[in-house]
Amino acid sequence: MTTMRDQARAAAEAMRAILSDLPPARTALITGSGLGALADSVEGALRFPTRELPHWPVSTVEGHAGQIVSGTLAGLPIVVMQGRVHFYEGYTIQAVTFPIRVLQAYGIERLIVTNAAGGLETSWQAGDIMLISDHINLPGMTGNNPLMGPNDDRLGTRFPPMENAYNPRLRALTRQVAAAQGLTLREGVYVMVSGPSFETAAELRFLKAIGGQAVGMSTAPEVVVARHAGIEVLGLSLITNIARLNPAPDELTSHEEVLETGTHAAPRMVSLLQGVLSALGSD
Ligand code: HPA
Repeated sequence: MTTMRDQARAAAEAMRAILSDLPPARTALITGSGLGALADSVEGALRFPTRELPHWPVSTVEGHAGQIVSGTLAGLPIVVMQGRVHFYEGYTIQAVTFPIRVLQAYGIERLIVTNAAGGLETSWQAGDIMLISDHINLPGMTGNNPLMGPNDDRLGTRFPPMENAYNPRLRALTRQVAAAQGLTLREGVYVMVSGPSFETAAELRFLKAIGGQAVGMSTAPEVVVARHAGIEVLGLSLITNIARLNPAPDELTSHEEVLETGTHAAPRMVSLLQGVLSALGSD
């Protein structure tokens, strides 16, 4: 019987074959909605569509290219997953996190996840960058944890801890880099919802009340699997819109707003990531 581990190894093998001329990367980056341009600053880049990898789920949403770009960023060999698939597209949560298993099989030891998120702090602004300190995996807590089902002990332990899932050392480093760049860096808890509908105002007030600073439709399951896999995680949210906790009669959130803020703020996210990677490279 082929297991998920076999499939991930086959995809990683295919990736190794395609990227064989490049220095082996131990760091990976996943770009969120509107942030695909982060991959444009990779030097000596080789790119290929993820459909070239066996078993890889196919992305359908606008703003998610479904490409892998590898090369060096700030001198560090890196694999960039440009675009991800989302739970709301109808994939199982295991399919959504399959790419993390491929990264694990490829030998990735450190994962930087980025996403677009709605800010629940009304004093924040669209375009702010938030360092993820922790998450609330609402789908995971209510029956859609990617680790449900039989555990493959070769991939990770049955009951992995999730304290400090967002690596404290990487967070401290990111704060230092942001300060050196004069960049305002927010920090807080990312709450995952399944989407695709945006939240009602009552839901937004609920998410804020349970301790969230940002809300989005991805990332948490990837981080759960990455931690299961022993991969270190750094998470950054681009706050693309501020939650309308008490909306005026004509106020609505839109995907266009999310993509547009992403485009505008991408250069700041690139500088921050370059700073972080170059600091990691000189560790
Ligand atoms: N809600 C959920 N997901 C999001 C949002 C939001 O307001 N903005 C970007 N992704």
